Amino acid sequence: MKRAKKTRVVLGVTGSIAAYKAAELARYMMKRGCVVRVVMSESAEQFISPLTFESLTGQPVARSFWEETQPGAIGHIALADWADVVLVAPATADTIAKAAYGFSDSPLLAVLLATKAPIVIAPAMNVNMFEHSQTQENIHNLQARGVMFVTPESGDLACGWKGRGRLAQPAEIYHHVRRAVTPQDLRGKRVVISTGPTREAIDPVRFISNRSSGKMGLSLAVEAFHRGAEVTLVHGPLSGSPKLPSLIRTISITSADEMRSAVLTTLGRDPAHHAPDIMIMAAAVADYRPEIESDQKIKKSNAPLNIQLVSNPDILKEVGEIKGTHERPFLVGFAVETGDTEKLLSEAKRKLEAKNADLLVGNLAQDSFDKDTNKVLIVSKGGNAEEIDTARKSLIAKRIFDTVATNTRSQS
Ligand SMILES: Cc1cc2nc3c(=O)[nH]c(=O)nc-3n(C[C@H](O)[C@H](O)[C@H](O)COP(=O)(O)O)c2cc1C
Repeated sequence: MKRAKKTRVVLGVTGSIAAYKAAELARYMMKRGCVVRVVMSESAEQFISPLTFESLTGQPVARSFWEETQPGAIGHIALADWADVVLVAPATADTIAKAAYGFSDSPLLAVLLATKAPIVIAPAMNVNMFEHSQTQENIHNLQARGVMFVTPESGDLACGWKGRGRLAQPAEIYHHVRRAVTPQDLRGKRVVISTGPTREAIDPVRFISNRSSGKMGLSLAVEAFHRGAEVTLVHGPLSGSPKLPSLIRTISITSADEMRSAVLTTLGRDPAHHAPDIMIMAAAVADYRPEIESDQKIKKSNAPLNIQLVSNPDILKEVGEIKGTHERPFLVGFAVETGDTEKLLSEAKRKLEAKNADLLVGNLAQDSFDKDTNKVLIVSKGGNAEEIDTARKSLIAKRIFDTVATNTRSQS
């Protein structure tokens, strides 16, 4: 298998009390296939030693114009050119202000001016410093030049204040780094994804559900975010607590009826004009629910218990009907089967037609349920089927969006 190219991250660390968190962040990114080279401000060294970063990254740390680490090269320009992305985390109010005004009196500021790579800034500071109109104006000016910001978290701050100013979590920062280095073919597009199982209540303590983990839809949501989309994720009960980018809007539901309402709401009041650009219905919606939900726990007895089941709404079909002959939303359905690939292919083709979908992704239960990998067939209108062999769900998600992109290009 071909190894993916490592992402080259220049990590700028500045003089914030959160500077120690940059060590964990560097490791987090390295574990996910990044090469990290650190450049520190003079103040940052008051909070954490360059030796920490040198030991973690195995790379020299850039600290001063006058002690260049690469003889013969102009260090800060070499770093600026080397980077696939420049990340400043934590970024002080001072560094943000200087970057906004184009100062270059430190190696980090010079890298920010010299680089052609995308820049991501994760601020960390006292809430009043963050909310100060001058800081906000500086952030706004940098954003206008294409710099991406990772909004700090709200909570207790080291300075004793409560409010927004705490450095974002490594996962959140990393999602922005990935977004910065991913081609933005979904920028400005609205993408709605449904995922996970639904639960159909029998009584207050029991329900009918299925083995779906929701991981495929989560991977799709993350991929769409990295490609620049505005993502809404409607999800049933998920296993674990996935670290999604905070900019993904999540709607948590339990039953098929709730999922139907949430999905239809995303179509807006006038779907012909305001429907999302892409909808991917990856949820494993329960086909049946108990006709009657008991409001009291059903007592155990030795007699057989009969529960009458009735059909749940077919959400994909309903969205397909609302879509009608309109181009939007580009509608992707999922089909899960047991059996073999031949049966899966014929069911995927049938479902594509029956639900008025533009693309149908077929997967076998044994390949996908509760797994980190999947193996899929992507069937397009006209019957063209693309087979994607077992791969991580993040890679499958990428391939699905590649196919969506090809199909939407050929539509327009
Ligand atoms: C204990 C302490 C903690 C600090 N924490 C922060 C902080 O979290 N955010 C911030 O913007 N400035 C903070 N400062 C102030 C910066 O260190 C100061 O503005 C410095 O000039 C920043 O320089 P630099 O941006 O070049 O690293 C702190 C200062 C001290 C003494």
